[in-house]
Amino acid sequence: MKGIKKISLGLLVVFIMIQLIQPARNQSGQVMPNDISKVLAMPEEVQGILKKACYDCHSNHTDYPWYGYIQPIHWFMNAHIQSAKQQLNFNEFGSYSPRKQQNKLRSVENSLKEGTMPLSSYTLIHRNAVLSDAEKKIMINWAQDSKDSLNKRISN
Ligand code: HEC
Repeated sequence: MKGIKKISLGLLVVFIMIQLIQPARNQSGQVMPNDISKVLAMPEEVQGILKKACYDCHSNHTDYPWYGYIQPIHWFMNAHIQSAKQQLNFNEFGSYSPRKQQNKLRSVENSLKEGTMPLSSYTLIHRNAVLSDAEKKIMINWAQDSKDSLNKRISN
């Protein structure tokens, strides 16, 4: 019994200690000159869907839930955010080459068709980020239209 008490106390101390390590939060208050809305036509609906379902990971601003500040949850979330942003950052979309923008739009379309995004570990908790069929359709149509208009711009 004594051993178990010691171990529990040890774990509690470790838990408290790791709370002191707080990596930088993904929260930039800066204006985003390369935001996707500056380079592509974005109906309000599309913007709303991106904000509620994608921006927590694919942008420079995450709305962390209260438990998002608790370790090791914070690390887990930040790891997701880092790899998501590396692949696709909607706030930096305008800095991508037209070719890359097209590729990313194609991936967006596929991820919605296949239902791989938003990540299920996220929608498990963020129920409002579960997209309805109508919302998916809006996003898919928008991605296709945007790809077409980029195509025209590139070939002109
Ligand atoms: C909880 C975090 C999270 C959310 C929310 C999220 N994603 Fe992702 N996304 C990731 C991660 C992590 C990766 C990279 C690793 C992977 O592919 O699983 C990724 C990868 C992608 C890729 C692949 C990029 C490439 O270059 O192939 C696309 C496209 C994408 N996400 C679109 C979206 C869209 C659209 C939404 C909103 C409807 C969304 N994601 C919401 C975490 C997220």
